Amino acid sequence: MNPYDDRIEKSLLSLLGGPVDPRRWAKSVQRLSNHYVSEPEAISPWNEPWAREALLSYYHPLNQSRARRVATQGGNLGFFKGLSHMIDLGCGSAAASLGFLQVQKFASLELIDRSFEVTQMAKALVEASGLAPSDVKTSQQSLELLSAADSKSPTLLILSYVLTEAHSLRTLEQVLKKRPDVQALAILEPSTSQDGRKLQALREPLKDLGFHIWAPCTHAGACPLLKDSDRDWCHDRLVPETPSWWQSLESELPMKNKTVTVSYLLARKEPRPSFSKPDQGQTEVRVIGDRMEEKTKVRQMICRGENREFISWFPSRLGGEAETFHLDRGDRLIASDAAWADPRGIDRSKEYRLSLEAIKNLSRIDFK
Ligand SMILES: C[S@@+](CC[C@H](N)C(=O)[O-])C[C@H]1O[C@@H](n2cnc3c(N)ncnc32)[C@H](O)[C@@H]1O
Repeated sequence: MNPYDDRIEKSLLSLLGGPVDPRRWAKSVQRLSNHYVSEPEAISPWNEPWAREALLSYYHPLNQSRARRVATQGGNLGFFKGLSHMIDLGCGSAAASLGFLQVQKFASLELIDRSFEVTQMAKALVEASGLAPSDVKTSQQSLELLSAADSKSPTLLILSYVLTEAHSLRTLEQVLKKRPDVQALAILEPSTSQDGRKLQALREPLKDLGFHIWAPCTHAGACPLLKDSDRDWCHDRLVPETPSWWQSLESELPMKNKTVTVSYLLARKEPRPSFSKPDQGQTEVRVIGDRMEEKTKVRQMICRGENREFISWFPSRLGGEAETFHLDRGDRLIASDAAWADPRGIDRSKEYRLSLEAIKNLSRIDFK
């Protein structure tokens, strides 16, 4: 587990009404989890004390970590260039704003949710974090009735775990037509097969609305996971940052989260820079599968175009760098032509066997 920001932890604890009470919080987490399972489209019940307890003690740190990961991926691509205003719509406890502010500064922030109590809580958390822009506003609005822009500042609109609750593409389209100030979009969704695939399917309508997809995609073509698989979905895996009560809280829970996943889209009206240089034999690749060990072979799914593809290698047989070569889901690489020299299998799931030279030539374009 990664350490959590001390100031945010103190502020969460004061909103939780202290002292730390893992046993009671775990019961609340379990109750909220059952609530989401039985009513997947239910609105988060912030007004219930038990739900608030679960959301702040457990879900907030996980969602903040997911947002930070997405923002880091965006930062590596130059996604934030020229954006000065951020709107966190359906902000809840501002987990997404905080995750983004850990990576990128903004001149102003607007926290929007349905109720006054929720937006005040979000504001308190952002202000206590030391990461707040000088101008932080709140408003009580819904995605459906979002008011027209009162400023022309180039804006990033974040929707973190909101579309599943608001569940309407039509609504998103209406918002984007009404808000020309929204130059960039960050959408985070639960990383399930169903929600993750629905999110990938948003790429085409967003393109029709004048947006370019910056991440996680390496290319603008069809998504190979939608095209060539019935249930695979695109997501990153990360180790979350967790407050000091985490271990005792998790020990009371049936679910353990050493790592968590997130499905996301980052889109901008500006085109995304390309890292591929086909004339120089270089292709941008994203790792979209977990490491699969098959006897002495390692296999991992990658994305670099419209086909569902894998790379594979034999660590002990190849020796040298191959023995410690490790890729995580979500890593981005530049591969040389040597990577594609030994293809096997059919187009729908082609596997490229890597030589030691190909492994040595793979360079990472991300930092963690
Ligand atoms: C699951 S919570 C996510 C909170 C936060 N964004 C995060 O990432 O942790 C969903 C939030 O979206 C808000 N919400 C859901 N549908 C909405 C809508 N149509 N308009 C505005 N807010 C909405 C809910 O009130 C709730 O606070």
